[in-house]
Amino acid sequence: MNRKYRKSIIAGNWKMNKLPSEARPFVDELRGLLPKTKTCDTVLCVPYPIIPALARAIKDSRIVFGAQDVSAHEKGAYTGEVNAAMLKDLGCRYCIVGHSERRAYHGETDSEVNAKVIALLDAGIVPIICVGESLEQREKELTLEFIDYQVKAALATLDPKQVKRCVIAYEPIWAIGTGKTATAEQAAEVCGYIRAVIRGMFDARVARAVSILYGGSMNAKNCDELLAQPDIDGGLIGGASLKAEDFARIVSGTVQE
Ligand code: PGA
Repeated sequence: MNRKYRKSIIAGNWKMNKLPSEARPFVDELRGLLPKTKTCDTVLCVPYPIIPALARAIKDSRIVFGAQDVSAHEKGAYTGEVNAAMLKDLGCRYCIVGHSERRAYHGETDSEVNAKVIALLDAGIVPIICVGESLEQREKELTLEFIDYQVKAALATLDPKQVKRCVIAYEPIWAIGTGKTATAEQAAEVCGYIRAVIRGMFDARVARAVSILYGGSMNAKNCDELLAQPDIDGGLIGGASLKAEDFARIVSGTVQE
């Protein structure tokens, strides 16, 4: 982490778990467990139907909420879609884009990811852009090449001001939901590389302003080592964000330095 230049962020990704009625009890428990001082943005990215209940529950707290996906379209005849303006209207601050599950199960392409990033920025919502290699790519030593491609595709056509408002989450696919975490060295290498890619596309000032998160089986036990890496500015947490105690412990992991 490097709070001089950029924010630390701990974002939970509830995926398709929990009910709207479970939002308040979760938040009530979480509030009591969070550290007293604010050292990071504490975000819960939840399914759309949970948003209204969560937005009420987090009122007057330091917790903010995010969504897990957004339409690339502005408005109109797109049955089943939710646009960035609707999310903004609800008070949404962050939105995940290009999660590997959406890329794998919903065929989300890099150009769609790029369009969604632009739609979110236009609405004033921070995109959390997920990138990450498969096990096969890692074994073939194609990780950095693939990350380079994904980052450039997601940020294509953006100007430096827009890029500074983006968050990138490095999520190796082989580490998601598997209990297999990247080692701190592996995660640090790729997060540092992502910053170098941004530096190459823009300049050092833009690169140092972007928060880069690690995601993939991050939990209460391994978070401290990961968060101690200078280029890892927080985490995108799946499984461990479903338990208030574990999630609060990860947030406490940002109280370092
Ligand atoms: P995990 O999920 O923490 O359960 O591995 C992370 C994610 O998919 O964002």
